Amino acid sequence: MTNRNSHPPFAAGNWKMHLASGEAARLASEIVKGAADAAGAELVLIPPFTSLDSVRRVVADSSVALGAQNMHWEDKGAFTGEVSPLMVKDAGCRYVVIGHSERRHLFGETDGGVNKKIKAALRTDLTPIFCLGETLEERQSGRTIDRIESQLIAGLEGLDGESVSKIVMAYEPVWAIGTGRTATPAQAQEVHGQLRGALSERYGKQDADCVIILYGGSVKPDNAFSLFREKDIDGFLVGGASLEASSFLRIAKEALRAHKEKP
Ligand code: PGA
Repeated sequence: MTNRNSHPPFAAGNWKMHLASGEAARLASEIVKGAADAAGAELVLIPPFTSLDSVRRVVADSSVALGAQNMHWEDKGAFTGEVSPLMVKDAGCRYVVIGHSERRHLFGETDGGVNKKIKAALRTDLTPIFCLGETLEERQSGRTIDRIESQLIAGLEGLDGESVSKIVMAYEPVWAIGTGRTATPAQAQEVHGQLRGALSERYGKQDADCVIILYGGSVKPDNAFSLFREKDIDGFLVGGASLEASSFLRIAKEALRAHKEKP
């Protein structure tokens, strides 16, 4: 377990339901070629399941890591249409996104399911990228922190501090995802700080300080610097802007630049 302050800035590209295998391999190879310019950042590519293999071949001998967008919590069984933690691991993934708001809102994922998936990832030696965030209505009615804390508590139910210290979290306000409307650095820091505080209260400061907390929601090259400069923002989960090598790499470079100015 590594203190997050000694961890490199983190940039994960969630390609969502975009890019078939050939297109995905092309984008991955542009990113691998440009990765030297963002040396010192941890880059993770998260293609759709059917493109994992082609991207794995491209990133194999590079510093770029691979992640999956979702998985089931069982290792195998009669679960038509699902992919197991062992399959995700076998496909070469080091990371897996759990509880993305699109899964929660469009596909009915619950906090209970998210909790099972986080546990399944940890037992399979995959790093979960545990997503949470409030809706616009929750924010406007002053319930942001309550909502975030309830997702946090339910998602981590039954885990001890050592397990929690290995998780990557992603605060993604639902109203900022794919909308071009980013949380301001102050809004994001407020929630990240609350999350860190809640983790520290429940698991102790040492473990809480190991948790990498990403921000996601309309991250672009021109807002990455000011967001990353905030104390508790350790990196980004990027959707739209990760579909172009140049903008994804620029986000990583902006994070590296801001890293040097971190309070
Ligand atoms: P966006 O998506 O960058 O397109 O807003 C972020 C995400 O859904 O992870």
